[in-house]
Order: sequence, then structure tokens, then C-alpha cells
Amino acid sequence: MSAQPKDIRLDDRHPDVENTLETVRHGLSAKPKRLPSRLFYDQRGSELFEAICQQPEYYLTRAEISLMSDHAGDIAALLGPEVRLVEYGSGSGIKTRMLLEHLEAPVAYVPVEISRSALLDSVAGLATQFPDIPMQPVCADFTQPLRLPVAARPPRRTVIYFPGSTIGNFEAKDAVKILRQMRAEMSDGGGIVIGVDLKKDPAIIEAAYNDAAGVTAEFTLNMLVRLNREVGADFNLGAFRHRAHYNPMVGRIETTLVSTARQDVHVGNEIYTFREDEAMQVEYSCKYSLEDFAQLAAKAGLAVEHVWLDAEERFSVQYLVRAPMAA
Ligand code: AVJ
Repeated sequence: MSAQPKDIRLDDRHPDVENTLETVRHGLSAKPKRLPSRLFYDQRGSELFEAICQQPEYYLTRAEISLMSDHAGDIAALLGPEVRLVEYGSGSGIKTRMLLEHLEAPVAYVPVEISRSALLDSVAGLATQFPDIPMQPVCADFTQPLRLPVAARPPRRTVIYFPGSTIGNFEAKDAVKILRQMRAEMSDGGGIVIGVDLKKDPAIIEAAYNDAAGVTAEFTLNMLVRLNREVGADFNLGAFRHRAHYNPMVGRIETTLVSTARQDVHVGNEIYTFREDEAMQVEYSCKYSLEDFAQLAAKAGLAVEHVWLDAEERFSVQYLVRAPMAA
């Protein structure tokens, strides 16, 4: 019996409007103001992110796909047979497809994604291509502890797939927290296949987040469009602009929405005042050297077992396993 898309049951734990409202109130009350980057990913935001991946300046996706076309076979061989593959933040599924194609008798594919529409689209496509792999989609915020669905057949190992350098969106302490959570979920003998963007010429990095066509700017501003619709805010879209700068000290892109005028924004009964030129933090995209990342992983009790690079050494995919306990 093969699983058809119609048989797929969605485990829906999408955060509700109340939760989003609470996040927005909290972020707009903070000094400096900040909103979490996961708020980018409504349906339109996921579409715009896919469009970013097509921009000539955004090298990350092309580098990772080229890496996967060179190495997906080696990665799958290292993981071995009967893997349960859990993916955090499943995007379009291109890279996942490349991995699933090479895996030997995978037990289940469990995508965890906050955008319900992006999740359903990608899982439907994968289910058609891989009718024999049980699909167990979970619509949820993966930064919160998850109770993952149990696979019908017991896996030899649980492998968490975290591509795209999404780990870069988290500050070091939060990145460690997420890696620790993954470490717990994969259990003994499990592992993490993670995409990590590498430090390089800052001009190249900065261009990737400031594409000439303005798609990234639209993606950033879409967060406000979404909040106006979903929590009844009244952000004036003409009075905010996208700004993305590389901070070489910390090694990360810092994306802000800058208020071009002094203005009030209403959210329900609350009023939030923006100064002219006030920058609201909306995203970090951290870049790592291989040493930096190994250190971060070590803080989460993980060891880097293997690193793959694309031919131009712009991007890495790394296999992390539980580190042997220090004596
Ligand atoms: C999907 C989180 C990896 O930070 O590079 C792209 C999102 N933001 N352009 C990144 C993003 C602006 C992207 N990640």
C-alpha cells in the first residue's frame, strides 16, 4: 500500500492569533523594539522567501543545492538505512528530495513547519514522488518543545534535517538551546544534518540580503502587512524601510525595519511610538567559520562528525552527533 497525498494527516499546532498578539505586544514594548523573524512566514512570506532564493545575489540556496547534488549520496550513506527523517522548517523541499532519493528504506519523513500552506504544498509534492515513505507533517513552531509523532516502524536512528542555514536566525544562546532540544529529540545514536552558511567577504553577504530587485525588502515589509491583517495593527507600510547590514564583530546580518518618520502604531488599544530613524530588529542571519560552529555545537553537547562544502566553499552541511561525555 502506498501513501497518497490525501491520506496524509496534518498534526496542526499552529500558534493562534492570541499568541501572535502577545509576541507583537512584547516585542514592541522592548527597548530597542524587536519582532521575531518567524513572523515572516505567513503564506505570502514563504512565497517571497522562495523568490529570494531565485535572486542572483542570494547565493545560499544555490550553494546548498549544488553541495547536495555533489554529496547527498555520501550523506545518505553515512546516515544508513531505516532513518526517521525529521525536518525543521521544511521549505520548498528541493534539498529534502535530494536526500530522500538517496536514503535506504527511510521509516518516516516528519516535516515541522510554521507556515501551514508551505507545509502542505511541500509534503504533497514529496508524497507523490515518494509514495512509500510515510509522511507525518507537523504544523508548529519548532523553537518550542515538540512531541513528535511516533513512526509506524521503529527507526534505526532519528536524524534531524535542518537545512538552509536557518540556525543562523538565532543568537548564540538560542541556537545552543535549539541544538540541545534537537539533541534530546534525536536520542542516542541519532544525528543532525544541518546547513550552515560560512563567513566570507562581507560585500557578498550584504548583497545577498539587499538584492537589486527589492525582493528581500518586500519580504521584510511583509511582516507588517501580515500583522496589520492578523492582529489588526495599523503599520503605515510607506513609512518603514528594510535595512540589512553585516556586523563583522558578531559575524551576522542584522535586518531592521526603519521608521522613516516619527509615528504612532496602534495594536488593539495600545499605542507604540516610533522615532524618526528608529530601527526595529527583525532578523539576524549569523555566519560561522567551521571553528565557530564546532564550538557552538560543543556547547549543546554535540560533536561535528562530518563537514561537506560546496565547490566554492561558501556553504557547509554538517553532521552532528552526541558528543562523548567529558571525563
Ligand atoms: C531562511 C533563515 C536561512 O537568513 O538567509 C533570506 C531568511 N532572510 N533573506 C536567511 C532570509 C532574508 C534566510 N533563512
